Amino acid sequence: MEKKLNFGIVGTGLRGICCFGHHLKERSDCVIKAVCDVNEVRAKIMAEKIGKPAVYTDLEEMLGKEKLDAVIITTPDAFHEECAVKALKHKVNVLIDKPLATTVKGCRNIIREAKRSGKVAMIGFNLRHAPLLMKLKSIVDEGVLGKIFLAENREFYDGGRTYMARWNGRKASSGGLWIHKGSHDFDIFNWLFNFPKPYKVTAFAGMNVFRPEGIPFPLEKGIRPGPCCSECHYAKNGVCRDAAAYTEEEWGKKAQKADGYVKDSCMYLSDLSVHDNGIAMVEYENGARASHMECFVTGMSDRLYTIVGTLGQASLSLSGRTITVVRRWTHETITYEIPEVSGGHAGADPGLVESFIRTVRGEEVNTSTVEQGMLSTAIGQAAELSRAENRVVFISELLK
Ligand SMILES: NC(=O)c1ccc[n+]([C@@H]2O[C@H](COP(=O)([O-])OP(=O)(O)OC[C@H]3O[C@@H](n4cnc5c(N)ncnc54)[C@H](O)[C@@H]3O)[C@@H](O)[C@H]2O)c1
Repeated sequence: MEKKLNFGIVGTGLRGICCFGHHLKERSDCVIKAVCDVNEVRAKIMAEKIGKPAVYTDLEEMLGKEKLDAVIITTPDAFHEECAVKALKHKVNVLIDKPLATTVKGCRNIIREAKRSGKVAMIGFNLRHAPLLMKLKSIVDEGVLGKIFLAENREFYDGGRTYMARWNGRKASSGGLWIHKGSHDFDIFNWLFNFPKPYKVTAFAGMNVFRPEGIPFPLEKGIRPGPCCSECHYAKNGVCRDAAAYTEEEWGKKAQKADGYVKDSCMYLSDLSVHDNGIAMVEYENGARASHMECFVTGMSDRLYTIVGTLGQASLSLSGRTITVVRRWTHETITYEIPEVSGGHAGADPGLVESFIRTVRGEEVNTSTVEQGMLSTAIGQAAELSRAENRVVFISELLK
């Protein structure tokens, strides 16, 4: 039996504990030694759920005191750079959840430190481990579609209340949703096309619904909504169907007192700086093109893909179990059935952790590199710039 890997988790929120923490706890080849969160109240409660590892509020202290083989970084996006650089300076392997960082500059700092350290630095593009997308990738790589040149994805996310009620809705924390959310989707395009250099990006996006005029119920005279769901008259009496839910213990008033992080701000009244829907288009230097639509005002959560090549096209819905290929000229239809797998994000999360552990152990090469993480951040940053400045953005402006 190989030595168990000692893990630390930085950021003890939903992703850090409810996804990675619970999953690592079940594995026999690793131990969660320590967790770190700026919010001690939440960190202590979360640590209880995953076997009571040591709790820190200062990352340097955790890295100095604990003998860790790896850390998983699941803080809000704006802190990925700082945390990854610190861990790499301490010669600890890192798995950084997407996006790598909120700017190309931040990504470069991580890449530089990763090279200096000689450690594994992997970006958590879990979608690449979703069985349906793995199958799509193999269909593309086997040449079933010929040379692919056009890709489309439409993402619908019934997550308005998760995104707009907390840090994700603020550009300073998430970089904007083309970076926070779109980085997944731009990476899938890059991966399927086999990483050609992106050339130019254009995007249209805006906030059509999550603003005061979008409140979808009549207000009672003299009773204002908000400021957060736990205090809102309309959330309490069930009139507002967008109320954000959270568990009082980890996220309630006591935890809020520690760092001011509010998880249930009214998404119609908050100071949001992101979009609730938009379309971004990318053209690559090799002439391939892709379009990504995202919408956070919806009753469903799914990603719908179409990939077109010289010999045929493939379509799939991530929530389904099939990929349909239609061949050019013959119109023949081939259906690939993918068996259901368990685990977070349709089985993608366990695949990501397995790949990271195998890479740290030297059993496979790093297939989700920080350089690839920078490419998708660059497209996301270009899309944010395009939206803000109302123009086409050339990737060379960001990636020399
Ligand atoms: N790959 C995916 O499918 C996926 C899904 C959801 C979230 N994410 C990513 O996971 C990360 C976390 O998202 P979440 O939804 O779990 O957020 P969350 O708000 O639930 O948790 C974040 C935690 O980080 C803590 N924190 C803030 N600043 C910190 C710092 N400097 N050092 C240590 N801790 C700090 C907060 O107190 C909080 O407990 C984000 O980067 C997000 O983009 C990825």
